[in-house]
Amino acid sequence: MSTEKLRIAIQKSGRLNEDSLKILKDAGVSIDNGKEQLKASARNFPLEVMYLRNGDIPQYLRDGVVDAAIIGENVLVEKGKDIIRGEKLGFSKCRVSLAVPKSMKYKGLKDLDGKKIATSYPNTVNQFLKEKGLTADLHIINGSVEIAPNIGLADGICDIVSSGSTLFKNNLKEVEVMLKSEAVLAISPKISEERKAILEKLQFRFKSVLNART
Ligand code: PRP
Ligand code: MG
Repeated sequence: MSTEKLRIAIQKSGRLNEDSLKILKDAGVSIDNGKEQLKASARNFPLEVMYLRNGDIPQYLRDGVVDAAIIGENVLVEKGKDIIRGEKLGFSKCRVSLAVPKSMKYKGLKDLDGKKIATSYPNTVNQFLKEKGLTADLHIINGSVEIAPNIGLADGICDIVSSGSTLFKNNLKEVEVMLKSEAVLAISPKISEERKAILEKLQFRFKSVLNART
């Protein structure tokens, strides 16, 4: 019997982590989960889970260090356009949006032309604005983006919106939805045939789980 195992990456901590573990569990894959470990094996399925930072996952997939991942589509749009996208998994739904201070009299995208925008999604914003024939002065930050307009760092922001509560708390309003996103199965372009066969078994189980959920 083959000792080959599929390596799948999931988010180490954050919004996708819990639901990613849940779909694996619902698919009948039980993982020995020492929370502190960055790598864990499944007991009853040829699978290893690696807990990684969201933003690092596209590179691991590209290099073939992991064979697959559960990741937000928004991350693939931002830095994993070359990564194969499999099934949408129905959780971690969010938008990637532009927001401005509530007090701003926003009439349309042109009001942001040449303005300072704080974001963790520079490629997504640039692409979106380019399509509209606009440009912006991007200020790239990795977290707590919504604070930027309040401290005079930017005129607007582009970030993930889920419940909208972070925007609300920071006196911002969502003015343009650039992208709608949810968790997807991402597949390495370098996956071997042997591991692909394991992945197909997992995909089959995921499909049954998703069917049962709707
Ligand atoms: C994420 C995201 C938004 C917020 C959106 O931040 O960057 O700020 O969640 O969710 P909401 O619309 O439900 O409020 P997170 O809390 O993960 O922290 P970070 O920005 O510091 O990474
Ligand atoms: Mg945030």
